[in-house]
Amino acid sequence: MGKKILSKKFYNAMLKLEPRYPTRVALLLPALHAAQDELGWLSSEVMDEVAVFIGIHPAQVREVASFYTMYNLKPVGKYHLKFCTNVACCLRGGDELVEHCEKKLGIQCGQTTSDGKFTLMEEECLGACGTAPAMMLNQDYFENLNIPKLDQLLDGLE
Ligand code: FES
Repeated sequence: MGKKILSKKFYNAMLKLEPRYPTRVALLLPALHAAQDELGWLSSEVMDEVAVFIGIHPAQVREVASFYTMYNLKPVGKYHLKFCTNVACCLRGGDELVEHCEKKLGIQCGQTTSDGKFTLMEEECLGACGTAPAMMLNQDYFENLNIPKLDQLLDGLE
C-alpha cells in the first residue's frame, strides 16, 4: 500500500478507542465515522486503509460501508442535506420539501450541485418522527420544517 491518506490524528484516536472495544473488528464503524469526518467521504483507497488498520479484507469494509446510508461513498458538497422521506415525515410534507429543494438547487436527490456546494439526499427515518418533517444538514438536525423555514436556512448558507 502507498502513502497513508488518513492522518496521525485518526490513528491516535483509534488507538485510544481500541481498549474500549472487545475486538479490533468492533472498531470498524467508529473508524469509518472518523475517516468520513476527516475526509468528507469514503473512497476505495480510504476503505482499503481502514481494512489494513482493522485487519480484515477490504471487501468486508465495503460491505459494511455500503449497508449504512450514513456513509458517503461519493464526494459530497459542503452542505449535505438529508431529508427523511419515511412515513411520519411524508405525512407532514417531507416529500414536498425534497421537491422544493430539487427545484431550488436544480439537482435531483443523490446529486451534488456543480459548484460543490450542496448534496441532496433522501434518508430513512432520522429518529425525529415526533417533530416531523425532519432533515439533517451535515451533522445538525432541523425539525418541524416547512418550505419558508427551509428557504430561510438555505438562503443563509454561504
Ligand atoms: Fe422521519 Fe422518523 S419518519 S424522522
